[in-house]
Amino acid sequence: MKDLFADDSDYARIDELRKELHRHNYNYYVLNAPEISDQEFDKLMYELQGLEAKHPEYSDSNSPTMRVGSDLNKNFKQVTHKYPMLSLANTYSEADVSEFYDRVTKGLEGEAFEICTELKFDGTSISITYVDGKMTQAVTRGDGIRGDDVTDNVKTIRSIPLVLPSGKGYPHEFEMRGEVLMPWTVFEELNKERELHEESLFANPRNAASGTLKLQNSAEVAARKLDSYLYYMLGEQLPHDGHYENLIEAKNWGFKISDNTKKCKTLQEVLDYIAYWDVERKNLPVATDGIVLKVNSIRQQQLLGYTAKSPRWAIAYKFQAERECTRLNKVSYQVGRTGAVTPVANLDPVLLAGTVVKRATLNNADFIDKFDLHIGDMVYVEKGGEIIPKIVGVDVDSRPNDAEKIKFITNCPECGASLVRYDGEAAYYCPNDMTCPPQIKGKIEHFISRRAMNIDYLGPETVDLFYQKGLIRDVADLYTLKSSDLFALPGFKEKSVDNILKGIEASKKVPWSRVLFAIGIRFVGETTAKVLANTFDSIDALKTATLDDLVRVDEIGEKIAQSIILYFKDDRNLEIIERLRDAGVQLKSKSEELSDRADKLAGKSIVISGVFALHSRDEYKELIEKNGGKNVGSISSKTSFILAGDNMGPSKQQKAQQLNIPIINEETFLKMIE
Ligand code: IVH
Repeated sequence: MKDLFADDSDYARIDELRKELHRHNYNYYVLNAPEISDQEFDKLMYELQGLEAKHPEYSDSNSPTMRVGSDLNKNFKQVTHKYPMLSLANTYSEADVSEFYDRVTKGLEGEAFEICTELKFDGTSISITYVDGKMTQAVTRGDGIRGDDVTDNVKTIRSIPLVLPSGKGYPHEFEMRGEVLMPWTVFEELNKERELHEESLFANPRNAASGTLKLQNSAEVAARKLDSYLYYMLGEQLPHDGHYENLIEAKNWGFKISDNTKKCKTLQEVLDYIAYWDVERKNLPVATDGIVLKVNSIRQQQLLGYTAKSPRWAIAYKFQAERECTRLNKVSYQVGRTGAVTPVANLDPVLLAGTVVKRATLNNADFIDKFDLHIGDMVYVEKGGEIIPKIVGVDVDSRPNDAEKIKFITNCPECGASLVRYDGEAAYYCPNDMTCPPQIKGKIEHFISRRAMNIDYLGPETVDLFYQKGLIRDVADLYTLKSSDLFALPGFKEKSVDNILKGIEASKKVPWSRVLFAIGIRFVGETTAKVLANTFDSIDALKTATLDDLVRVDEIGEKIAQSIILYFKDDRNLEIIERLRDAGVQLKSKSEELSDRADKLAGKSIVISGVFALHSRDEYKELIEKNGGKNVGSISSKTSFILAGDNMGPSKQQKAQQLNIPIINEETFLKMIE
C-alpha cells in the first residue's frame, strides 16, 4: 500500500530541493557568486534525482534535473511566433547613427526621447515564453514567423531560469528574447576537441551556438555549456513603459541581463558608448559584433512603428571586421591524422584584433588558385567573428614582376611520399599512413582521447616525447610500455609514471564500441562506431563482413563500408589488432551483455507511465532496452504500447485512447518478456 505520510515528506523535500537548486543555479550562472561548492551542489542534485525517480507522479518539466538533458532523439516541432521575430537594419558609420537619431527626432515630432544602447551579442536568437512564472516554450528565430521548438535544449542552459521566484509581480504571460551564446573559452575547447578527431571545425561561436541548439540530443547540448543574455521583453502587461526599466525588472526576476546596457539622453552619449565598446568588447568573454540602439519608451516605439522587415525605433551599428594588409612570405604545409595536407600562409607579423598574426590558413590548393597567390604578394587578412585569420584578398598591383607563383607541393613535407588527391575531395593526402610521423602521432592522440580510450595523463606532448624516444610507433605499443621505459625520461617521477600506466590499464575496460571508434578507421566516427558495434558483436564479425553486409546496416553507406573493407585488407592493421587483443583490449561485446540480450521487444516503442510496485522505472527502462525495445518519452501514433503503473496521468490516458494505443500493466509486461 502507498505510504501517504512518506510521500508527503518526500514531496516537501523535492519542493525544497528544487527551490534550493534553482537559487544556486542563479547564483552561479547569472550572478557569478556561488554560495556552495560544486560538490555540495552535485549532492543536492543527486538527492533530487533519486527522489524524482522514486516518485514519477511528482515529475515536473521545469525541475532543475531537466538541466542535464535527455538521450532521446527528436525532430523539432515548428511553432508560429506570437509576435514575429524581426531583424534590425544595419549601419556602419557615425553618420548613419546620426541619421537614425534625426529620423527618430522627426518621427516623434520633437518630443524628448531616450536611447537604450546595448551590446549586439553574436550568437543565435531565442524567444522564451513564461506562463505564471514557468518556462513553457523556447523557440528559435526560424524565418521570423515560425521557428523550431527547442525547449528541451534551452532548459539545459543554466543561466536561463526555468521557474521564476514567486511574489515578484511578473505578468501572467510574457516572452523574453535574447541571444544564446557559446563563450570564447568553451568554443576554443570544443574546436580543439573536434580538431583532434578531425571533425569539421565551427567557424565562430555563433555557428557553434546555433549548431548546438539544433542538436537532437539535449544531454549533448547540456555538455556544450551554452550561456545567454536576454535583451527584450514582450507581452500585454509589461511592468513599465521603459524598455530599460523592464530589463532591470527582468534581472530582478532572475534573467541574465547585460550590465553594459545603458540609457543615453543625447547623440553624443550614444557615440561615446559605441567608441568605448568598439575597443573594450575585445575583453568580453563572449562574441559581439556591434551595438544595438533602441528608443526606450514602448509608447514611442509604437508611434514610430515598423517597416516590413524591421522596427523604425531600433538600429544595429556593426563593428568593422578588422582587416590588415601584409606580405605573404612563404607557404608551409601541415599534415593531419588522416594525411590531409593543409597549406598555411606565413606572413609578416601584423596586429589584428589585439593579437599578432603571423599565419593564416590557405585551406587547399583551389583556394591558392582562386586568388592566384604569389610569394611576396601583399594580402588582406581579416579576423571577424572567426578565430582563425583568413586571407580575403590580394593587392595585385603591388605584385613584383618576378614574383613566383605558388605551386602546391607534390610530396609529403614530413615523409616524402607522393601526394594523392581523391575524387571529389579538395584536399591532397599523404598516403603513407603507417610511417608518416604526424599521421602516427595523430592516430595515437585520437586513440587516447577522452571520447575514445580516455587514457588519463597522456596528452599530445607525452605522445610526442614517447614517439621521439622510439617508445611508441602505433597504438598497440602503448600496452607494452614499462615503468623502466618511462622512468628513463626527463621529468617522469613515480606519481606520473604510475598515473600513466594505471590509465592505460583502465582503458582495457573501455567497451568495444568505443574501441572501434578509437582505432580510427576512416569515416567511422563516434556514432557510426556505436551503430556498427550494435550489429557486429566483435571485431572478428566486422572483419569478415562483406560490402553487402555492411551497407545493409542502417546509416552505413557505401563510402563508410568501402573504408572498413580497405582497413581490414591491410595486414599492418590486422597485426595491430592482434596485439591489442593480446593486451586485453575489448574487441567484442561483453559476454554477459550478449547472453542477456533478447529481441522480444524488437522494433517496439514503449512509453512508461505511472507508479510501479514490482520494479523501479529505471529497471523497466533497462528491461525494455535489453529486450531490443525503445523507451520513448511521449505518446504518439508510433507508440507500440504503454507500460502503465498506478496513477497514470489523465492526459496520457486520454491521448492513449484517442490514438488507440494499448495500455499494459506490469504483470502482463513481465510475462511478455519472460
Ligand atoms: S533586439 C526588434 N538586442 O541581432 C528588435 N537584438 O538583426 C529585436 N542581437 O536577431 C532584436 N544582440 O539575434 C536585439 N541587444 C540586442 C541584440 C540583438 C544581438 C541579434 C538578434 C537579432 C539580430 C538583429
